[in-house]
Amino acid sequence: MKRIEIKQLFSDSAQPLINTPVNVRGWVRTKRGNKNVAFIALNDGSTIKNIQIVVDLANFDDELMRHITTGACISADGILVASQGAGQSVEIQAQNILLYGEADPNTYPLQKKGHSMEFLREIGHLRPRTNTFGAVLRMRHHMAYAIHTFFHERGFFYFHTPLITASDCEGAGEMFQVTTLDLKNPPRLPDGSIDYSQDFFGKQTSLTVSGQLEGELGATALGKIYTFGPTFRAENSNTPRHLAEFWMIEPEMAFYDIDDLTALEEEFIKYLVRWALDHCADDLQFLNDMIDKGLIARLQSVVDTDFVRLPYTEGIAILEEAIKNGHKFEFPVFWGADLASEHERFLVEQHFKKPVIMTDYPKDIKAFYMKQNNDGRTVQGTDVLFPQIGEIIGGSVREESYDKLMRRIQEMNIPMKDMWWYLDTRRYGTCPHAGFGLGFERLMLFVTGMANIRDVIPFPRTPKTAEF
Ligand code: 4AD
Ligand code: MG
Repeated sequence: MKRIEIKQLFSDSAQPLINTPVNVRGWVRTKRGNKNVAFIALNDGSTIKNIQIVVDLANFDDELMRHITTGACISADGILVASQGAGQSVEIQAQNILLYGEADPNTYPLQKKGHSMEFLREIGHLRPRTNTFGAVLRMRHHMAYAIHTFFHERGFFYFHTPLITASDCEGAGEMFQVTTLDLKNPPRLPDGSIDYSQDFFGKQTSLTVSGQLEGELGATALGKIYTFGPTFRAENSNTPRHLAEFWMIEPEMAFYDIDDLTALEEEFIKYLVRWALDHCADDLQFLNDMIDKGLIARLQSVVDTDFVRLPYTEGIAILEEAIKNGHKFEFPVFWGADLASEHERFLVEQHFKKPVIMTDYPKDIKAFYMKQNNDGRTVQGTDVLFPQIGEIIGGSVREESYDKLMRRIQEMNIPMKDMWWYLDTRRYGTCPHAGFGLGFERLMLFVTGMANIRDVIPFPRTPKTAEF
């Protein structure tokens, strides 16, 4: 019999199937019942919903039924009927059950009771089979699809930037080195330093922290591009918002000024959040019930409100005023300080009560490529700050003047030999342009209501963990 996905059984298209035989295949979530009848809740991953399979035990082998326990994989044939019980629209009256694989209840770690997120991280190979991770991972797919749709609809081109690179885009020195040299006995130059000319690429290389620099090459040829790929940062931040391997979406647009840039940032996030509300209703409802009761209301409010535009200097004044009025922050607030997530969240959650796009940061806390303002001390950087998350997007208008960019590169001691190709964008047909990076997992934190970034990516990479 042709298999049908459980998602379909709960859709309108299942109406003609009622009172006909169907086949479903999936993993047993629970089995309960009595001497005469068993109720199996079966999930196949296509939806958060389980199909109930009603088994008349008189017609089934005891030995087979004993092996049908939580986690086992089965194929079930039966008649689809309108359900008598509350909570489900249809169920299946079993006629035949095939056991693909048992899951010994003495060792299978996922049992009926709820498990802590910490425990589930230790069994990362099995946690996609839980309701929560099923919901998160389905939503991850929908968000990725929405991102491509958003850009495609607006004439952006998906531009593939390299993962292995010889330049440090953010200049923070937080890169994972890529090498085939023998670490026990690397070739050395006369001065004792490592001779990278003998390495695989003939130079020192790393995993990229951002596709932006190459993205700018795309934008200054194709007009509007975006990247969507993994990025890697060897920053030792063990926080609920940092991963060592995360996915980033980086659009880059020729002829965009700061107002065009912030307008796109706002439109993009609202589009994605609306997409989640429109396309992930069942999973969102589950997460709203089980993880975060304020989730759906928060998503709706982001879609409905205008984001604040706030120059950094005004933001600092608000924070200083709050301190005067008795608010305590862990980290100091002064003009020139890099804002901590407590400051960002104060502005968003307590002061404005809506998302904030902060602009015009002190140049010394931002990357070399940002467009310099005429005041000589700020740059046209923009961070989008979100409730619960803090920074979700970082972006800027780019410095298009060759001379100004060179001066900044020299001031910041950025190795020039790695930058010649980037500088050529400013040497040949330079143009005003801008772009930003959205951290995909920060977006996933926001749309799922999950508290820890380790729980919105299938296989998290963080300091001291690379299991699975
Ligand atoms: O602010 P960042 O460092 O900006 C850039 O990399 C620019 N090159 C982007 C651009 O203009 N094209 O990073 C961008 C975003 C952050 O706002 C945050 O959402 C996310 O990437 N991010 C991280 N997400 C998870 N773990 C980390 N360690 C992250 N570091 C940054
Ligand atoms: Mg940033």
